[in-house]
Amino acid sequence: MSIDGPVLSREADNLKRSVMRELLRFAVDPNIISLAGGLPASEFLPLEGLRECLDAVLSRDGPRALQYSPQYPELRAWVADYMGTRGISCAPDEVFITNGNQHGLAILSRLFLDPGQPAVIEEVTFTGIHQITVGRDAAVRTAPTDLDTGVDVEAVEAAFKRHPTPRLAVLITDFHNPLGVSVAGAKRARLAALAAEYGVPLIEDDPYAPLRFRGDALPPIKAYDEAGMVFYLGSFSKMLAPALRLGWLVAREDLMPRITTIRESFDLESSTLYQRAVAEFMSRGMLEPHLQAITSAQRLRCDTMLEALEQQLTDIARWSKPDGGVFVWVSLPEQLDTTQMFQAAIQRQVAYIPGAVFSVDGSTRNAVRLNFSNVKPEAIREGVRRLSEVIRTAL
Ligand SMILES: Cc1ncc(COP(=O)(O)O)c(C=O)c1O
Repeated sequence: MSIDGPVLSREADNLKRSVMRELLRFAVDPNIISLAGGLPASEFLPLEGLRECLDAVLSRDGPRALQYSPQYPELRAWVADYMGTRGISCAPDEVFITNGNQHGLAILSRLFLDPGQPAVIEEVTFTGIHQITVGRDAAVRTAPTDLDTGVDVEAVEAAFKRHPTPRLAVLITDFHNPLGVSVAGAKRARLAALAAEYGVPLIEDDPYAPLRFRGDALPPIKAYDEAGMVFYLGSFSKMLAPALRLGWLVAREDLMPRITTIRESFDLESSTLYQRAVAEFMSRGMLEPHLQAITSAQRLRCDTMLEALEQQLTDIARWSKPDGGVFVWVSLPEQLDTTQMFQAAIQRQVAYIPGAVFSVDGSTRNAVRLNFSNVKPEAIREGVRRLSEVIRTAL
């Protein structure tokens, strides 16, 4: 009997390489205006600040910063304080440092979701959320998301009510990826109440909240969580730099030993050096000026994109109008297939992410996700102009 190779696990077999990451390969040609990525602007990354903090940590803390060690207490304390400013009252013991929100999603999916069990996600959502449900072979139930007010709460309740009770739900609260919308204030308390009423752990994936450039901040869903059924995920990726690979989760203290054990099975712990450097960055008061610089640049870039869409596509498209974050979602006429249109766009030297990538059933074929954070205003105008030509030719 011939053997072709090792037999793969069901998880490895189910998981597909992210289409989005494949498409991003096309966008590296410097002549292509890429509205495809989700990266923070390279020119605003806190290079000098982090260099100073890394230097200080290495000089002062020496080998301790390079050792295996428990989660850095000062960083957990900073996160607990920061969460307090956002309306979540939690102790440092309820904060767990992760390697970013994707890591938090992976840990919590291992904590709650047995293979084949039901999970509730938004009909259109971040590909990393699809990956954790597909990876766990989940029976996925979906809720639609309104482009002005966020997820449809009645649909969430209907999905929670169905037997058997879902093992988890994942929602994106502020400046949704890919839709750009935030969950309306009035819906947030209701979602926390539904998680408690039906006993469904609700994972609140919220990496973009610090990137608000307009309007008043709203308390997260977790701020209304009296039953300990909401699990908050925050990230330093968008707030500071993705390459730090650091984030946090806020969870009830009684689950911390389980969370710690599951995490240890993946990768033991987060980098002590980077945890200390980030804590140093915060203690030197560097966060606020940094956030001010990136959000004011992003407001300008977002407004430039909204104006360009208004000039180029107002007769045939509708789009979200974000108050923060990095994405605009553009819905185009029904007959358009933006996955098929992608090659023509690359030839015209503009890139986007086709909408079908984000939906469970591929039904959002007539939409695109556009990024404004990592493109200069002039290039945004030109990129939208090229996109409009490609769309009109395809129509
Ligand atoms: C909604 C959402 N969740 C999670 C992530 C993963 O972020 P991190 O870099 O913190 O792992 C992203 C990254 O783009 C995202 O958009």
